[in-house]
Amino acid sequence: MSPPPPRFDEEQLRTPLFDAMVNLAESRKVSFHTPGHKSGKGIATRFRKFVGPRVFSIDLTTLDEVDSLQNPTGVIKEAQELAAKAAGADRSYFLVNGTTVGNHAMVAATTGPGDKVLIARNCHRSVLTGLIMSGATPMFFQPAFDRDLKLTLNVTFEAARAAIDASPGSRALLITSPNYYGLCTDIEKIISYAHEKGLMVFVDEAHGPHLKFNPKLPQCALEAGADMCVQSTHKIVGGMTQASMLHANAGRVNIDDVTNTLKLLQTTSPSYILMASLDLARMQMATEGKKLLNRTIKLAEDARTEINKIPGIACFTKDRAKQAGMADMDVTKLTITVSDLGLSGYHVSQMLNNRFGIQVEMADPFHVLVIVSIGDRQDDLNRLVAALQQISAETGLQGALLPLDKVHPPALTNKFIMTPRDAFYSDSELVNVNESVGRVSTEIVTVYPPGIPLLVPGEEISQDALNYLQNMAGLGAIIDGLNENNSLVRVARI
Ligand SMILES: Cc1ncc(COP(=O)(O)O)c(C=O)c1O
Repeated sequence: MSPPPPRFDEEQLRTPLFDAMVNLAESRKVSFHTPGHKSGKGIATRFRKFVGPRVFSIDLTTLDEVDSLQNPTGVIKEAQELAAKAAGADRSYFLVNGTTVGNHAMVAATTGPGDKVLIARNCHRSVLTGLIMSGATPMFFQPAFDRDLKLTLNVTFEAARAAIDASPGSRALLITSPNYYGLCTDIEKIISYAHEKGLMVFVDEAHGPHLKFNPKLPQCALEAGADMCVQSTHKIVGGMTQASMLHANAGRVNIDDVTNTLKLLQTTSPSYILMASLDLARMQMATEGKKLLNRTIKLAEDARTEINKIPGIACFTKDRAKQAGMADMDVTKLTITVSDLGLSGYHVSQMLNNRFGIQVEMADPFHVLVIVSIGDRQDDLNRLVAALQQISAETGLQGALLPLDKVHPPALTNKFIMTPRDAFYSDSELVNVNESVGRVSTEIVTVYPPGIPLLVPGEEISQDALNYLQNMAGLGAIIDGLNENNSLVRVARI
């Protein structure tokens, strides 16, 4: 009998960057270079006492033994090549300024002034700051809204196709999938249609670095044919905060342009600890991701079943997301609808935190969002379910208290008077929000969570957008980009 095939490519067990860092730390060479704390000897004692001394011995800088992120030729190059193989990309890049710098690079490396880029409006603000760098013109299309789920969903294939058809000659299309709530658009169909029409397609896959490693999860962007995608390794799998990856496929994208753009955007002093966490997180996912994620999926699905038994609380399933028109859903996200208790998501989030010591990812007027990951244990989920049971028992069914129309995002006007870049650099002034209708915003104004941009630099401010902002601020959302207690907005002086 022949031996069973290996469960994974044995090469993926290698961690060249981390190994080189450990070897260097253990060689105890005398350092007359940065960082100035010299392997922790110069670190404040309280810091060293709390975290222990060893972490500082691998807080290194660019040295022959551990390679250079800006010009990788040694162990960082090898580590990035292993990441590319694991992801199925032609080239992968380690990012030390989060997915933010990946979005910047995708946009700035491929588009410039005069180019049109189709963008799903549920994008993160870093996509827009990338446009400020590139000078391209955004053409937005809107995600769907589901009245029963009381939630902004992802975009649909139909919306993407209509946007592509409406803007012939566009250079690229950028979508976010999965979105914060795990809702996935039909990336394969969108990508294939966009490619047919000559567009490059980029996916902000901040919330999907794990998808590739378990067949029960939605299809990942590269397998669906994306030209580039960026993933927050730190958000969902084992990377440390700020550690993300950009994956690129050659063909429509010029890899040298991406490399050069990242050289321009990334620091010359990247944290080796962050980069090592990427090396190890890749190894972990490639070699035992399937098993770890099977456990995570089970934890999340069991919790969903229990949560759905609690009076007044609901947690929608993948089938329900599909009924709402979504192509798929990452079931490790639990979107917990609490509005039938007569409480807002913000309120329940605070109760969970202050009374039960449970911190959720985010809250909106109707929901709290829980991320379940490979780091969670059954006990953690049991605590969450028990806390929700107690909140429900104490509160009882009060019925929805918020009028849905207040949280329905305004229709897109797409009235761009100038590009985001021109608006950002234009002469501007602060005006009272109530007198800003018809003026051109020079700020990105976002409603947190989930951080979807409501006003974009260069866009004419509409009454609907203002009404929405004021409603959301009234409900407790955090508004980013306005001034003086949300009373002033920066507009172009034209
Ligand atoms: C969809 C999406 N893209 C990009 C980002 C930015 O990622 P990072 O915080 O890693 O820079 C976020 C952050 O929440 C996000 O949700």
